[in-house]
Amino acid sequence: MCGIVAAVAARNIVPVLIEGLTKLEYRGYDSAGLALLNPTLTRLRSVGRVGELAVQAEGQVAHHGIAHTRWATHGVPSERNAHPHVSGGLAVVHNGIIENYAELKQELIAGGYAFSSDTDTEVIAHLIQHTLKSTPGLFEAVRLVAARLVGAYAIAVVQEWSDAIVVARHGAPLLLGLGQGENGGNYAASDASALLQVTRRMIYLEDGDVAELTRAAIRIVDAGGTALNVPGDRPVHESTLSADDVEMGDYQHYMQKEIFEQPQALAATLEMIGGAQTLSPNLFGVAAPEMLRGARSVLILACGTSYHAGLVARYWIEQLAGIACSVEIASEYRYRVSVPNPEQLVVAISQSGETADTLASVKHAKALGMGRTLAICNVPESAIVRECALRFLTRAGPEIGVASTKAFTTQLAALFLLAVTLAKQAGRLTPEQEGAHLKALRHLPVAVQKVLALEPEIRAWATQFADKQHALFLGRGHHYPIALEGALKLKEISYIHAEGYPAGELKHGPLALVDKDMPVISVAPNDALLEKLKSNLKEVAARGGELYVFADADSAVDQEAGVHVLRLPEHYGLLSPVLHVVPLQLLSYHTALVKGTDVDKPRNLAKSVTVE
Ligand code: M6R
Repeated sequence: MCGIVAAVAARNIVPVLIEGLTKLEYRGYDSAGLALLNPTLTRLRSVGRVGELAVQAEGQVAHHGIAHTRWATHGVPSERNAHPHVSGGLAVVHNGIIENYAELKQELIAGGYAFSSDTDTEVIAHLIQHTLKSTPGLFEAVRLVAARLVGAYAIAVVQEWSDAIVVARHGAPLLLGLGQGENGGNYAASDASALLQVTRRMIYLEDGDVAELTRAAIRIVDAGGTALNVPGDRPVHESTLSADDVEMGDYQHYMQKEIFEQPQALAATLEMIGGAQTLSPNLFGVAAPEMLRGARSVLILACGTSYHAGLVARYWIEQLAGIACSVEIASEYRYRVSVPNPEQLVVAISQSGETADTLASVKHAKALGMGRTLAICNVPESAIVRECALRFLTRAGPEIGVASTKAFTTQLAALFLLAVTLAKQAGRLTPEQEGAHLKALRHLPVAVQKVLALEPEIRAWATQFADKQHALFLGRGHHYPIALEGALKLKEISYIHAEGYPAGELKHGPLALVDKDMPVISVAPNDALLEKLKSNLKEVAARGGELYVFADADSAVDQEAGVHVLRLPEHYGLLSPVLHVVPLQLLSYHTALVKGTDVDKPRNLAKSVTVE
């Protein structure tokens, strides 16, 4: 939530800031702004997208500045609430939420400071200004102020006549980029994609770190006030991200690109099992053999689409490994009184690895004595990966579209590997069965590619959805979470109200909603529940509901008046959810196109939810 870029270099850094913000726009796009030091401060801000800020910034030259793209928390999206926020000659950009901002604000108002925005960030600016009255130097002032802030934040601060940028983080991501080549310089950003334009050499800051960047040097002090050796205490990582990974190429939208990248994303994720006929638990980390062996049950924690991946995994883990598995929405788990079980394996699923609720739920589980923690994540150095004892990194590549697609299918592949590993450890798989599961996994990229070929038919269906107000998604068994995911995709990008239901639950209430204006989308693979599902579909048809059924080639579901059927090329057994989610992604995408909504940046949302 919110993106930060900071740069100090011999080159003109204005294009670097604008390009960086463009890459970070997925983190929030309510407003954008920047502060340039020349050596006095120039602030530019605009409501809306970075493109508008870029127009304002044309012709500006600076060697030192900070920039921000906002996802509104405190205060409506408006120019007065756009970052940077200033106090005297200093400016601050901020990602996160300051929980004690109200009391700090009272204190500052009593001290004579006037506020010109509704944000919590302005409190930081005034507090630093106030601290500077009794503290020499911006770096020390930021350190003292950081110690007073409660909540999650990443900040970058500049001051007139100073040649430094000071940054700090606690609970929100921030990394440093070390300039390369003749242009050199030093940089900071919320994620690596913003800095690939200038460097691949990154240092990930830890919680509590405060850093100072000048053209020639950086220094970092940790939460305890100790000056760190750089790179000794904070290693330099060479980013393996390619600039192409974050470009749209020939596609119209990132979401479209990411849907069509799923075969490659799955293949890359499965690369680490190579041609093996048997799985090693080491796939999940060096401590995995012992930790997984001792696990008596599994607790999965996640939000949104990642939560839906967890729901599918529950079916796999219980069926294959015979181990009890529960799945909880992270924001619920972290605040409820639960019964801790130290022998339970805690699995955190997150594309970004920065989702505040998921991170907090892992910390909560650990505080309850549950130390067997595994992160399934798409971002290697993210907070959730670092918090967990074990890790499995999906290799989906950067996912930019707010609606998660390729992250979901690669999470499913990872979770299936986990289920097979647990099943093997429980002595419930013959070598032949294990080999068959691995073979099915390896064939997934090809199978998904064939499903993508259904796009023209799905596009035609989408034209029938665009004028609907509501939709129901039905599934049974391990396709029930796929119905939930289909509904989430549709509401997220097309703003059509959609609900996912287990089909057997229909007659317990939602059937009352069904009439000719309520399309009912059903996932109908040719599995053991198909006949039960068909009875549920009859109940819909009998009430005049229009049915759209995603069946398998051999599912005996007939097309008739009011019943539209699209067939996936093959039935894929336990892994069928990975295939059946793809047409639902395409359906949402094309419905959003017809409606003309902003597919990659749907209203009110952001890609990375780093606030509660
Ligand atoms: O990065 P995460 O996987 O932890 O994100 C969790 C959710 O915020 C995310 O899946 C969200 O629901 C997506 N926008 C859904 O498309």
